[in-house]
Amino acid sequence: MKTILAMEYKEDALHMIDQRKLPHTYEIFIAKTCQEVDFAIRDMVVRGAPAIGAAAGYGAALAAKSYQHEEKSEFLVKMNESLDKLNTSRPTAVNLMWAVKRMRKLIETHHKLSVKSLAELVLKEAHTIVREDQAINLAMGSHGNTIIPQRATILTHCNTGALATVGIGTALGVVRTAHSSGKDIFVYADETRPRLQGGRLTAWELMQENIPSTLIADSVAATLIRDGKIDVVLVGADRIATNGDTANKIGTFMLSVVAKTYGVPFYVVAPTTTIDFDIDHGTHIVIEERNSEEVTHIEGVHIAPEGMKVYNPAFDITPHENITGIVTEKGIVRAPYAENIMKLKV
Ligand code: MRU
Repeated sequence: MKTILAMEYKEDALHMIDQRKLPHTYEIFIAKTCQEVDFAIRDMVVRGAPAIGAAAGYGAALAAKSYQHEEKSEFLVKMNESLDKLNTSRPTAVNLMWAVKRMRKLIETHHKLSVKSLAELVLKEAHTIVREDQAINLAMGSHGNTIIPQRATILTHCNTGALATVGIGTALGVVRTAHSSGKDIFVYADETRPRLQGGRLTAWELMQENIPSTLIADSVAATLIRDGKIDVVLVGADRIATNGDTANKIGTFMLSVVAKTYGVPFYVVAPTTTIDFDIDHGTHIVIEERNSEEVTHIEGVHIAPEGMKVYNPAFDITPHENITGIVTEKGIVRAPYAENIMKLKV
């Protein structure tokens, strides 16, 4: 498997592949401050739930580094402010809040340490989040591979690969694992309007690894499913409620309805860091609404009539009844979700 590194911390900065520019331009966005990491998450330089969580970890580390010459009390106040701001950079992917909470807890537990040691500890923790996510991705890949037939056509939505994580990916990690284990895999990748994460990013990742694949407009998926051309649908997740309801990229819900109608297995692939153990129903998940230009414009070209109103939710909720199983690093969870998801809580 080829290695795509969505981000790398070096020379006191977070280096990220600028995902706004792919596939035409491969550019590295360098964030030297927490504010720059915050911007990178808001503007989707980096995106995908686990990648956002990892970037937030480094955002916290850069904040801590910049306050390391402050008095302890001042350091703690400023760290809190930076973490509060980072926490709001995107509302749906719970990995962001999970990473921020993890950093808050770390600082709280070790508050007696010197400010410099605390800053070092936060950076070390950010590296640990990355290492953990890499191992989690591999584990999801092998669990997920057990549900992939020897010969399979897989439908994917959005980008769930190395760019969306810091490892091999979630749903696309399963595709990678199946392909590298010698299975005869073919992928249909939804382009994923409006931001085209499928057309720009998933297609790029699939081509890098020569995984047989074809790009489709989102509206083609229903026909392929009805015509028996899809063996399994694999999607990622941005937040999962404890009843199994899953927030993922807009369009996922529609796919789940069609898959259920035609009896095609529909799997969510997500780490347990994407489960929000504080909510028991999808209705509690905040759905991000992004700006109208994502819909009215394509590559800077205005395609809708001037002044047209736009509704642009970035995610939707797939009800748990439509989900065949949730592939996590701890194994595949199936209904009854309310009961089985709670068993994953450590
Ligand atoms: O708006 P994005 O590009 O951050 O949305 C990404 C997705 O919806 C992915 O499917 C999700 O984060 C899971 S993949 C790791």
